[in-house]
Amino acid sequence: MTSMTVNDRPVRFDMDPQTPLLWALRDAANLTGTKYGCGEGDCGACMVLVDGEALRSCLITLAEAEGRFVTTIEGLSDDRSHPVQQAMVAEQAIQCGYCTPGIVIAASALIARNPDPSESDIKEAVPNLCRCGVYPRLVRAIQRAGRVARRRERISAAPAPGIDPADAARAVPALRVDGED
Ligand code: FES
Ligand code: FES
Repeated sequence: MTSMTVNDRPVRFDMDPQTPLLWALRDAANLTGTKYGCGEGDCGACMVLVDGEALRSCLITLAEAEGRFVTTIEGLSDDRSHPVQQAMVAEQAIQCGYCTPGIVIAASALIARNPDPSESDIKEAVPNLCRCGVYPRLVRAIQRAGRVARRRERISAAPAPGIDPADAARAVPALRVDGED
């Protein structure tokens, strides 16, 4: 049994303590926002905050996470209002989105310790791989997130997940009833 705090909740995993944290989060805790990419520490898709530091959860065992505070992408904010999340949406720095949770985690750790990062600070602190190649937008988004964190700029919160019913109604052609013009 391994105990830790995940997204502000006490959690005990009844699993082999040598299990990678990534698998415990995804398979046992159903926190599937944390992604499996390479499984070897290269891509960063699996990054989570451990005691505030962005770490690759594929490389940490449950035993190593014992007693620590883990934050996954699901726990970063309730409503996607974290400055990095807002800026990623505003700068359209997301394509397929597979790398995005790991990037947001890495960027949030950076902004917490350095809210005015240079491009080279970002490249060093956010080494995550993105097959869609959003890197230039990513730099803009993370610097913008820093301005939001420093209260130099405001971005209205990202819209809630899902489709607005009004938009859905516009997208679906009106049902035609026989006999009507
Ligand atoms: S899955 Fe962990 S670094 Fe790629
Ligand atoms: S947005 Fe597709 S892998 Fe990064």
